[in-house]
Amino acid sequence: MTDAVDAQETLEAVLKDEIIRMYEDVAEKPQGEYHFYHGREAAELFGYEKNLLDRAPAGAVASFAGVGNPHLRSQLQPGETVVDLGSGAGLDSIIASWSVGPTGRVIGVDLNPTMCRKAQAHAAIAGTHMECREGRMEEIPIADGTADAVISNGVVNLSFRKRKVVQEVFRILKPGGRFAFTDIVSAKQLSQSIVNDPKLWAS
Ligand SMILES: C[S@@+](CC[C@H](N)C(=O)[O-])C[C@H]1O[C@@H](n2cnc3c(N)ncnc32)[C@H](O)[C@@H]1O
Repeated sequence: MTDAVDAQETLEAVLKDEIIRMYEDVAEKPQGEYHFYHGREAAELFGYEKNLLDRAPAGAVASFAGVGNPHLRSQLQPGETVVDLGSGAGLDSIIASWSVGPTGRVIGVDLNPTMCRKAQAHAAIAGTHMECREGRMEEIPIADGTADAVISNGVVNLSFRKRKVVQEVFRILKPGGRFAFTDIVSAKQLSQSIVNDPKLWAS
């Protein structure tokens, strides 16, 4: 193994620990201070319908940690199968499950099993169902050609291997499927001190 590959694997492991810590923190202590928008304030800012936020479990809304609103473009239809990459505390999966209805299916994917359990519990409180699979978006634990749509909210930017993530998304989509994601892009090169800071990368 080369030094560069070694270094990347070490950085990825550090980042994974930071991601697990950060999003569990938001889920456990949503009232805490974070340097990114979260909870109902963020969801309203991103144009989530108020009636959906009122209807969703308070815990899922308070722990929402997305960066935009993938539902504005996903055009989910009743009966569709949708995959939510990095499903977190479950708000996006719950909204997706209401859109695809009882004949549809929502599969969340999250690297953190604690977040998976939270999302499934929130979905049950919401009177709907989502299955959450523990796994990484770089190796999505879902068979080829499964999804009519993949949604994701503020998760692709967390990966060191974004090209691999996009390849994986295309692998699990059915022919003609859709990928609706919201994310963060910087128009200028970030300084190395920002790039190398796991706390900043994780958020
Ligand atoms: C920005 S939140 C997602 C917001 C979520 N859609 C919601 O409704 O609140 C990020 C989630 O992505 C998960 N995540 C981060 N990196 C991941 C990866 N490589 N593969 C899968 N999940 C990942 C984190 O564990 C966290 O739960």
